[in-house]
Amino acid sequence: MIEIINLTKRYQHHTAVDDLSLRVAPGEIFGFLGPNGAGKTTTIRMVAGALAPTSGEIILGGHHLARAPRPAKSLVGYIPDRPFLYEKLSGWEFFEFLADLYQVARPALADRGPKLLELFELSDWCHDLIENYSHGMKQRLIMAGALLPRPRILVVDEPIVGLDPRGAKLVVDIFRHLADQEGVAILVSTHTMSLASRLCHRIGIIFKGRLEAVGTEDELRARSGQDGDLEDIFLKITDGGAPQILSELFTDHD
Ligand SMILES: Nc1ncnc2c1ncn2[C@@H]1O[C@H](COP(=O)(O)OP(=O)(O)O)[C@@H](O)[C@H]1O
Ligand SMILES: [Mg+2]
Repeated sequence: MIEIINLTKRYQHHTAVDDLSLRVAPGEIFGFLGPNGAGKTTTIRMVAGALAPTSGEIILGGHHLARAPRPAKSLVGYIPDRPFLYEKLSGWEFFEFLADLYQVARPALADRGPKLLELFELSDWCHDLIENYSHGMKQRLIMAGALLPRPRILVVDEPIVGLDPRGAKLVVDIFRHLADQEGVAILVSTHTMSLASRLCHRIGIIFKGRLEAVGTEDELRARSGQDGDLEDIFLKITDGGAPQILSELFTDHD
């Protein structure tokens, strides 16, 4: 559903994303795990069509993002890490705005809008101005809004930063349902190991713009020779000992 081929983004002399390739199947949640500055946001923004790559290709549901941006982008719900909201709108007015933008017909908005607000526990506040929402409420509103056009692909940047444990669980449960029951392909970035572990079917560890290891949590653990949890594996791969481990990771011993 998501196909990323040799994706590279350079800023002057700095390479933020370096020759990155991966595929995410329908119904799969792929987690991008990496420290600050690894290149997660840059990759997510390119997949969402919000930033042009220096080179490489992105194919969404069979549509080439650069050559056929409209059909490609129409499949995608993008949930940025620092979303922009019109603070002078109410939550419901924001939904009406999104419905116009994404061509969601009014009857569909009337049907789905209240359900999404209820799902994200925002119904009681939907006629209040967004400027009065807490950070967590704003984040939940953005997520609810991204689901309004029923995207087949979700790209999500650091979804639980700033959410309380209940909000974080809500997000995990909703993403799992969307993938497992609705077949939505989800690419999600996080620097939170526990989220990747709970949420994702497969994890890619990104470090200095490069995808250093890809697999299930168990596969990553087995390949790294670490017994610990994902956090140990992650720290081992992204610390000064990386070259040694990585050469081991990518050496075939059979
Ligand atoms: N607009 C930009 N101009 C120059 N460098 C940038 C820009 N955006 C990001 N970078 C750099 O690219 C690298 C990756 O950033 P980012 O994708 O935001 O990482 P992450 O989301 O993993 O923390 C960082 O070194 C960052 O400083
Ligand atoms: Mg980021």
